Amino acid sequence: MSTKLLILGVNGFVGSAMVEKILNETDWEIYGLDISDHKIKDFLNHERFHFTLGDALKNDEWIEQHVQMCNVVFPLVAVANPSLYVSEPLFVFQLDFEANLSVVKMCVKHKKHLVFPSTSEVYGMSQDIPFDEESSRLVLGPISKQRWIYSCSKQMLDRVIHAYGLKENLSYTLFRPFNWIGPKQDEVKSSKKGSARVLVQFVSNIIDGKDIYLVDGGSQQRCFTYIDDGIDALIKIVERRDKEAYQRIFNIGNPANEYSIRELAEMVVETMKRYPKYRELAENTKIIATSADDYYGEGYQDVNRRVPAIKNATTLLGWQPKHTMKQSLEKTLDYHLLND
Ligand code: UGA
Repeated sequence: MSTKLLILGVNGFVGSAMVEKILNETDWEIYGLDISDHKIKDFLNHERFHFTLGDALKNDEWIEQHVQMCNVVFPLVAVANPSLYVSEPLFVFQLDFEANLSVVKMCVKHKKHLVFPSTSEVYGMSQDIPFDEESSRLVLGPISKQRWIYSCSKQMLDRVIHAYGLKENLSYTLFRPFNWIGPKQDEVKSSKKGSARVLVQFVSNIIDGKDIYLVDGGSQQRCFTYIDDGIDALIKIVERRDKEAYQRIFNIGNPANEYSIRELAEMVVETMKRYPKYRELAENTKIIATSADDYYGEGYQDVNRRVPAIKNATTLLGWQPKHTMKQSLEKTLDYHLLND
């Protein structure tokens, strides 16, 4: 059978970027499901893209039929915004854990290759630098810190998938994105606290003439990875699913792009000054320290440093992240600021 992918949550940040790159660079077919289609509009008439509008929580029959038709399954339906882990922990569990568990079981039943989005968040507050897929401890906070329900839901699925691999020969690959950024990540429409992940949040605040808030002073660090680099890794995983990527876990991140959140805020302000329409707004933006309790509420706890070991991805997949932070920021800001 030629390569047919099923992408659940195809209109999301990762799904929509996959559609674009895969249709342009491969001859694969894509079947996709999502509750909306605004990020994939340009591809709806493409002969190798078959889209269905629908809710993954309510369409088990459709999903099972399509798992049977395809040979690789990407269940990408998930909440991935930390402020929602704190405010809507049960919704995170329902979507990120329960909905995906049923898709995992379908892949076991129909013997399909599952490519599951684990997360850098599973390492939690591990002190390792870098985080290693095989040896790092996964360190979470107390139950009262709901932030960890996302990490814990994903970790449990990682463990279930691994166990199905051992007991029922499930063919799978787990990938762990490390702060992927790029066009179509989150919407710049709302600058309400916590409505987007950090980069888009900062851009929205500046557009709305609001200040930028640094949670606990912004000394925490992240390694930012451009979305196209991430999708390149996913393509290699599909290509090598029966060989180097079979039953493996890969961190997919860019250790060369490690910056503190304060540095990120400064870079965003400086870069936005180069767009004439936003220069004045950027010049007037203040960068202000705030507490995690004030910003997210008491259920939040942060990760201070998060660096991926990418030896497995470089040696087994032949993958390397290529985009510098400067290029990643410019491409993302061009998308948000030149297209409105
Ligand atoms: C992210 C999200 O959980 C997921 O997108 C994903 O699974 C994972 O990590 C990843 O992409 O690797 P995090 O990096 O903490 O978690 O989320 P962001 O919202 O991007 O925040 C990054 C940092 O900026 C945090 O320390 C946060 O406290 C800080 N922040 C955020 C601010 O200082 N100010 C803001 O306005 C927003």
